Amino acid sequence: MTGFATVIYEIKDGIAYITLNRPKALNAYNVQMRNDLFQVLEAVKSDREVRAVILKGAGEKAFCAGADLSEFLTAPPPVSARSIRWERDVWGLFLSIPQPVIAALHGYVLGSGIEMAMCCDIRIAADNTQFGLPEVDLGIIPAAGGTQTVPRAVSQSMTFDMLLTNRWIKAPEACEAGLVNRIVPSEQLLTEVEEIAGKIVSYRPEAVLALKKAVNGGLDLNMAQGLDLEKRLAERVNAELT
Ligand code: COA
Repeated sequence: MTGFATVIYEIKDGIAYITLNRPKALNAYNVQMRNDLFQVLEAVKSDREVRAVILKGAGEKAFCAGADLSEFLTAPPPVSARSIRWERDVWGLFLSIPQPVIAALHGYVLGSGIEMAMCCDIRIAADNTQFGLPEVDLGIIPAAGGTQTVPRAVSQSMTFDMLLTNRWIKAPEACEAGLVNRIVPSEQLLTEVEEIAGKIVSYRPEAVLALKKAVNGGLDLNMAQGLDLEKRLAERVNAELT
C-alpha cells in the first residue's frame, strides 16, 4: 500500500513496516497522520500475510515529538482540534491489532509519541532516546490513551512523575522503569527490532495470535476470567494441531 502523505507502509517477509514520515517536523502527529495511520492499521489488521509489525520514525532526531503544535494549539482552537482527532478511534484500532507490534524508538519520544509506543507490544529504544509527556505544560492531558497505558507499564508514581511535572527521562531510566524492554546502540536499532520480528514470524501464527489475545485480553479481566480465556484459547490452538 503506497501513497500516504505522512506514513510509509511496506511489507517484507511477513513483517509490516509502518514508518512515521514527517522528519522535518520530528514526525509530529497531525490530522493527516491520524488519517493515514488509521488506513494503514486497518490494512494490517485484516492482512493475514502480516505476522508482525514494526513501528518506527523517519529521520535522525525523533520517533515522534508528539501532537503537531502548529496545528494543535493554534487555529482551529484546541478543543475542536482534539475532537477532530476523536472522530476516528485510531488508538482503539491500534490496540485491537491482533499481530504483535514492535516499536523501534529513537531520539525524541514525546506526548503522543509515547502513547503510540504504548500501543505496541514490545518497545526497543536506541541509546539516544528521550521520553516526555509535556501535555500538562500545555494545559491539556494525554488523549491517546497515555493516562491508561503508561501506568499499566510503569508504576503509578513514575507515571505521575512524568505527567505531573513534565520531567523528561533518558533511555536507561525508561528501561529501568519498564517503559521500554531494552536499549540498543542507535545504529543497531533496526537490526535488533527486525531480529525480534523475524523470530515472531518464524513461529506458528495461531500460537502467536492466541498469545497476544490471552495476555492483552486478560489484563482487562479478573484472574478467574483470565484463566478461562487462556483455557479457551489453548484448547483452540491445540485443536487446530490435531
Ligand atoms: N509539532 C509541530 N512541529 C514540531 C513539533 C511538534 N510537536 N516538534 C518539533 N517540531 C518542528 C519544529 O517546529 C521545527 O520546525 P522548523 O524546522 O520548521 O522550525 C522542527 O520540528 C525541528 O524542531 P526543533 O525545535 O528545531 O528541534 P530541537 O532539537 O531544537 O528541539 C524538541 C526538539 C523536541 C525539544 C522541540 O522541538 C520541542 O519541544 N517540540 C515540542 C514537543 C511537544 O511539546 N510536543 C507536544 C506534546 S503533547
